[in-house]
Amino acid sequence: MNSQFLMCPPDYFGVEYSINPWMTHNLGCVDTDNAKKQWHSLFETLSKFANIELLKPRPHVPDMVFTANAGLVRKELFIPSHFQHLERRQEETHFRKWFLRMGYRLKDLADSVRFEGEGDALFQPGSNLLWMGYGFRTDPQSQDLLKKLFSLRIITLQLVDPRFYHLDTCFCPLSGGRVMYYPKAFSVDSLQSIKENIPAQNRIEISEEDAIHFACNAITIENNLILNHASPTLIDRLQSLGYRVILKPVGEFLKAGGGNKCLALSLTSN
Ligand code: ARG
Repeated sequence: MNSQFLMCPPDYFGVEYSINPWMTHNLGCVDTDNAKKQWHSLFETLSKFANIELLKPRPHVPDMVFTANAGLVRKELFIPSHFQHLERRQEETHFRKWFLRMGYRLKDLADSVRFEGEGDALFQPGSNLLWMGYGFRTDPQSQDLLKKLFSLRIITLQLVDPRFYHLDTCFCPLSGGRVMYYPKAFSVDSLQSIKENIPAQNRIEISEEDAIHFACNAITIENNLILNHASPTLIDRLQSLGYRVILKPVGEFLKAGGGNKCLALSLTSN
C-alpha cells in the first residue's frame, strides 16, 4: 500500500464550542457511542486502501479528530497549521510533537499567518498543482512559504458561504485531472479560475443537497472515493467516469462541520 494517513480516535470528540455554522445548533449533541462506531467503520474501510498512523487522543481538544487540519505534508517536510480560532490552537503542539517524533522536518509560517492545513490546501493528484482556499480560516499569504519550499503551482480560491468555511468542504480534486465542487461556495472570480484551469468535461459540479451532506469532503485514493453521502445522480455520474464510490456515513462529525476527509490527513499526497 502506497498511501498513508494520520487519524486520531474520537475518545474526546464533541461539539463543545461553536466556530462554524454547523456547530451552532449542535452544542452538546454528539452521540459519543455512535461517533466511535462511525469513526471505526471509516478506519476499517480506509485500512483496506492505506496504512494509518494514529495520534493519541487528548482531552480538552474535541476537534483534534479532524487531523486534516494538522498541517500540510510533502515528502519529509511538514508545514504546521496555525489556527484562526483560539479553541483549536491547543491542538498545534500535539500535532507538532507527533511530526517531530516521526522524523519530519518542520517549516513554520510567520506567527501572524493563519493556515489550517489540508482543510484549505489540496493537491491535484499527479500534478504539482495545489488548490488553496481562503476567506474564513487560512490567510492567502500562507502560499508564499509553500511556493518557496516546493516548486508548486498554486491557485487560490475565495470561499464565500460560511457553511463551507474550509476548501475541503466544497472542493475535491480527483484523479484523472478532474475536480468536484459546489459552485455557490466560491466567489465569481474564483469560479472563473476553476473554469480557466480545468476543462468543462473534467468539472463535476454538485448540487446543494449533495454539498450540505459533505459529498465533496471525500478521501480519495486513486479512483476510490470514500465519502459521507452522495445522491443517486452523483453516484451515477462518478461511476460512469470510472470512480468507485464508497459511502461511509459520519453524521456525528458533520455536527462539528467535518466529514470523512477532515478525519484523515494524507501523509503521502503528491
Ligand atoms: N469543528 C472543526 C472546525 O470548525 C471542523 C473541522 C473540519 N475539518 C476540515 N478539514 N474541514 O475547525
